[in-house]
Amino acid sequence: MAQCRICGNVYSEFIDFGMMPIANGFLVPEMFNKEFFYPLKVGFCDKCTMVQLIEQPDRDMMFHDNYAYFSSTSARMMTHFRSFAESVMGMLGMEDPFVVELGSNDGIMLQNFSAAGIRHLGVEPSANVAQSAREKGIETTCCFFDQELAEKILKERGSANAIIAANLMCHVPYLHSIVEGVRRLLSPGGVMIFEDPYLGDIIDKTSYDQIYDEHVFFFSVSSIQYLFNMHGMEIIDVIPQDVHGGSMRYVISHKGNREVSPRVAILIKKEQSRGLNKRESFECFRRKVELSREKLLALLHKVRKEGKRVVGYGATSKSTTVNVYCGITPDLVEFISDTTPIKQSKYSPGAHIPVRPYGDFKARYPDYALLFAWNHASEIMAKERLFRKAGGKWIVYVPEVKVLE
Ligand code: SAH
Ligand code: TYD
Repeated sequence: MAQCRICGNVYSEFIDFGMMPIANGFLVPEMFNKEFFYPLKVGFCDKCTMVQLIEQPDRDMMFHDNYAYFSSTSARMMTHFRSFAESVMGMLGMEDPFVVELGSNDGIMLQNFSAAGIRHLGVEPSANVAQSAREKGIETTCCFFDQELAEKILKERGSANAIIAANLMCHVPYLHSIVEGVRRLLSPGGVMIFEDPYLGDIIDKTSYDQIYDEHVFFFSVSSIQYLFNMHGMEIIDVIPQDVHGGSMRYVISHKGNREVSPRVAILIKKEQSRGLNKRESFECFRRKVELSREKLLALLHKVRKEGKRVVGYGATSKSTTVNVYCGITPDLVEFISDTTPIKQSKYSPGAHIPVRPYGDFKARYPDYALLFAWNHASEIMAKERLFRKAGGKWIVYVPEVKVLE
């Protein structure tokens, strides 16, 4: 039993993944016996409909000066954030607008505002990725955003006409402080626009690997509506996105200041009809997750018995949940190929599978590539035509476990 971070109601878990390491905590062998683990369990609050982790490690264990996630490793995401930025620019009617981004990482989104000469500020607590943004000329403050920081920005720079965030809101357990900070910092006619992986897609695709330490919340339109209503704000539009396995973009304003799109009520109704407000749906999800684990393990054992080589593709944070929950070891997956320098020559959290540069994948194609970065499938498949031509096969597990022929 735990207390809901949004409405204070007491709620209980529906799935228990066991003990998990820090999902982005790639490590060297000297650290193996000091590795930190915590219990990964998820619950559903039937009062405000928020799905959330029961327990989350301390934020300083996840976001620091050695953070392994650099947003700009995907060309598709660069294009996505350019178009996100363009749509925000289209909403900024006034002269000399000010845009604040929360969780701006290496500047993947703000570089577009910077190039357009728009006043901006990135808020990014992980010092190494914040530094990478600064090197691109993006103004970045290396802090955790909360109500206190919002007051400071307001005092020093004035109110923001747009506050934007991608894959940030779902990371923050102190969401009330964030939303209250947004309410204070946002100008009266301003908008907040943010997107995160969508609960509906996670349930539909059994993408349980979206569940790991950093993702403390799994949002639906109804839970976001509940949260912002508590702070005198409202959703004025919702726009589904096809990135990160299915995301939802929420447009928020101060209550009564802008017209509300009929899409909001339509999506909330759809969520009710598909059972996102009912505990049974999550119990059913749990059974599908257990089945997915069985199938993936059976498949990996089968191909290894046949003497085939399997290499992981993309050392995603999501893959930490899959590897540890399924018990995938280096006997099953020889190494994981990843283009991020900071992850290379280290080992995956918990499962301790070596992470190697992409060149190692290309130099000697395996028989099977296990697609951990499935959310970038179209970008990767387009890039890896030669692998298939050479007889290589992809193993995927979202939405179901199979070999792509
Ligand atoms: N927006 C980027 C990065 C998402 S990862 C993208 O979509 O690719 C989440 C980022 O949020 C990390 O860079 C992390 O350091 C940062 N973060 C975590 N807590 C935060 C907080 N309270 N305020 C601002 N950023 C935060
Ligand atoms: P991503 O799925 O974006 O996020 P998360 O860590 O939140 O689950 O991570 C993609 C990872 O895959 C990242 O480490 C970079 C790597 N990658 C490649 O190695 N090659 C590629 O072609 C792409 C697109 C990503």
